[in-house]
Amino acid sequence: HELAISLEAIEKAGYPHFMLKEIFEQPRSMADCMRGRIDPDKGTIQLGGIADVMDDLANANRVIIAACGTSWHSGLVGEYLFEYLAKTPVEVEYASEFRYSDPLIGEGDVMLVISQSGETADTLAALREAKERGALVLGICNVVGSTISRETDAGVFTHAGPEIGVASTKAFTAQVVVLTMMALALGIKKGHIDNKKAKKYIKELNAIPDKVDQILKECDDDTKEMAKMFTYAPNFLYLGRSYNFPVALEGALKLKEISYIHAEGYPAAEMKHGPIALIDEMMPVVVIAATTHTNDKMISNIEEVKARKGRIISIMNKENSDVKELSEYSISIPSTFDVFSPLLTVIPLQLLSYYIAVNRGCNVDQPRNLAKSVTVE
Ligand code: AGP
Repeated sequence: HELAISLEAIEKAGYPHFMLKEIFEQPRSMADCMRGRIDPDKGTIQLGGIADVMDDLANANRVIIAACGTSWHSGLVGEYLFEYLAKTPVEVEYASEFRYSDPLIGEGDVMLVISQSGETADTLAALREAKERGALVLGICNVVGSTISRETDAGVFTHAGPEIGVASTKAFTAQVVVLTMMALALGIKKGHIDNKKAKKYIKELNAIPDKVDQILKECDDDTKEMAKMFTYAPNFLYLGRSYNFPVALEGALKLKEISYIHAEGYPAAEMKHGPIALIDEMMPVVVIAATTHTNDKMISNIEEVKARKGRIISIMNKENSDVKELSEYSISIPSTFDVFSPLLTVIPLQLLSYYIAVNRGCNVDQPRNLAKSVTVE
């Protein structure tokens, strides 16, 4: 027993929980995911696992992404990435719903499943259904040798290393990195991204791990302090727009699963169609305001929340003083291209949920009622 305890301590490498270790590993796991695959000088991307099916992907009638939980959120980010960078239309489905909807999928279509564990029963069932109907089935998995990675026709591993904490952190960012590389490779192949643009994108993608490192160094203490103020809030709202709408969903899921606080994520503009009725002086509203092309609209949303005395916590670009002035608390992160911003904005949200859960005395790595991989349908 003592040996088991000390082994676990070694595995945690000095961190109190696997989740915190995995959050802090992200600069490395994201770089590992890109290693040998991107060349910023040449402006090229090589994804060996899907090289043989790039033509099929480029010519696909449609791409359907199916996944669960956090992996579904990365799929939603993937939809924005594929549509913006490669002009490929994408639909994102809950894997659990896909097979019961008599899905319109067949030859010429591509199903892309995303799963950290590669063992999620619903995702596996969606994959099998799509395969049976004649679609090309691709996968993004973290665990090498997992059932999903074996049953897909081709795929890309995330190489994030083992993720032990039930709350997915580094697997999410690695999935988004893979989706970014796939979307860029597809955009280049389809002629939507010329070499000059490709170099610009790939150079910026290559800089992301250092920016994540900077966020972890600069924002950890502030997030910890901020968490103290909101530890006993009964509810949270998370608002994002565009690329950061899925990050709002992910921030809310992280908080729910490890701190047991009720939280909901919304596209910021949807707030006025209902959730705004929830806002009063007791409601913390986390606003992901780091997407420049929606900045003005987001400022109006923040003002709407403030007018109802909601408490604004913002995740913002360093130079955005407007958002800072309107916020009770703000976390400033370095800027990047809007389309890459989920890779940065999610980091402070992971930390916020972690510190709140620790303050509440929750079992962060193994929250109640949850398993690391859900192998029942
Ligand atoms: C994430 O924090 C959750 N624990 C959960 O939503 C998870 O992402 C989901 O069960 C899917 O798992 P998978 O990626 O292993 O398929």
